[in-house]
Amino acid sequence: MHENTSEITDIILNAKERAIKETSREPEPELTKPINWPVECVVGPGLEGAIACETRIGYVNGSKGWLIYRGYNIFDLCAYATFEEVSYLLMYGYLPSNTQLAAFKKKLVEYRSTHQTKRLLMSFPIEKMKPMAALRLGTNLMRQEFTDVDSDNYLSNVVRIIAADEDSIPMETKPRGEEHAIYEFKRQQREHMIKEDLKHATGFESCFHLLSGVASLTGAIARLRCGKMPVEHDPDLSFAGNLIFTMTGKKPTAIEERIMDVSLILHADHGMNASTFAAMVVASTLSDVYLSVGAGIAALQGPLHGGANERVIEMLQEIGNEENVPAWFEKKHVKKEKIMGFGHRVYKSYDPRALVLGPLAKYMTKENKESKRLYKIAKALEKEVVKTLGAQKRIFPNVDFYSGIVYSSMGIEADFFTPLFAVSRVAGWTARVQEYLRNNRIFRPRAMYVGPYDKEFTFIENRGRNIKT
Ligand code: CMC
Repeated sequence: MHENTSEITDIILNAKERAIKETSREPEPELTKPINWPVECVVGPGLEGAIACETRIGYVNGSKGWLIYRGYNIFDLCAYATFEEVSYLLMYGYLPSNTQLAAFKKKLVEYRSTHQTKRLLMSFPIEKMKPMAALRLGTNLMRQEFTDVDSDNYLSNVVRIIAADEDSIPMETKPRGEEHAIYEFKRQQREHMIKEDLKHATGFESCFHLLSGVASLTGAIARLRCGKMPVEHDPDLSFAGNLIFTMTGKKPTAIEERIMDVSLILHADHGMNASTFAAMVVASTLSDVYLSVGAGIAALQGPLHGGANERVIEMLQEIGNEENVPAWFEKKHVKKEKIMGFGHRVYKSYDPRALVLGPLAKYMTKENKESKRLYKIAKALEKEVVKTLGAQKRIFPNVDFYSGIVYSSMGIEADFFTPLFAVSRVAGWTARVQEYLRNNRIFRPRAMYVGPYDKEFTFIENRGRNIKT
């Protein structure tokens, strides 16, 4: 299937073997079963242990190091499938036939043209915005361009007037590196391809629109951030290949395309993680899927979640070389500081995604002195952390530890590591939102009130400096 990339498949299958071997002594999990609501579970801070819903989409088993999408283990999916197939699998529940896959790819190609959204995006100071903030803005602009969700109420004219079309006339274009181009937008000519479902912003079509659109916007934002114009997609490249191409402007090699594809598969879904939960909470209010994905992007960017991959590279740069690792780690350990790219709420064994990405990072950096230096520091740090924290607290590398080294070796800047995570996770967010909505109940947990409840009201003139609230 993947010509010239059989070495990558071997790396993945070796990781699978290692994962099976390392957790073979762990007890077989109590397999999942339908819930009879209300369910009893022990809940810790941060909703640890809480069961929020049933799902058939994916399963993470922390002691066995399992990550399963719709019944298939992650290693087999990385070895034998493509991101397009996996996205289809997550949404529909089964792997597509050739005909189904061809139709799905055609749909994604149709939906990746977000010219008008990109034009709108260019009227904002993208070069001054963090890429995740720009991406979140971009999903909002897609919502405005392609849907009618607001227009039944009071915004119909505004939406039409703001929206741009292919003939937009640049009123003033400042030179590269300066503020941003200002456009006068003509009345929108609605694209004939827009589907009914898309206009309502809730159904499957909107999910596929987002899957393709968020990738397309990430490419555009990467270019705009460094003062360059977005590049057109290449019809000969896959979803993964186009992602690299539109971000860097360079055609990826077959190996780079394949590795990006594997990385997208690895990041596509991961249980009730914070960003998935955020997306589902928004959807559960019967908001729409664009705003749900926007919430997912917002939650993902934090350093305890998807933002960790960017911090890992900063940390490796700060360490400087592999000889510095033991002293650097000791200092952090004594101060009880967290090491980015390690630890996980669920995994108490190696994160299977790190088992794949670690060797891929090694493979990708073997010919580049600077990337190889970073990889060596990472490897030395992994050894040190696992020796101490692995033994004491079952803390191991997670998905974010090696992904940045892989992306850097493809020429991708550190502030785009988290947007790449988002591009892939759109598949999981939207699949889980759609699944949850079939049996929707608004999310509404409680907080335990521990404050006072019998205070006497104090009028403002009587509130002295010393009165505590
Ligand atoms: N380095 C050092 N100690 C750690 C780390 C770490 N990376 N992670 C957890 N610990 C310790 C923590 O100090 C605590 O120790 P103690 O019990 O002595 O106070 C214990 O392990 C439990 O930590 P926690 O923060 O309560 O665990 P959690 O389940 O709430 O948090 C986590 C999980 C991923 C937020 C956390 O491990 C962390 O902050 N890791 C670093 C950031 C990171 O790499 N995030 C990416 C997560 S994986 C991909 C994703 O979801 O995006």
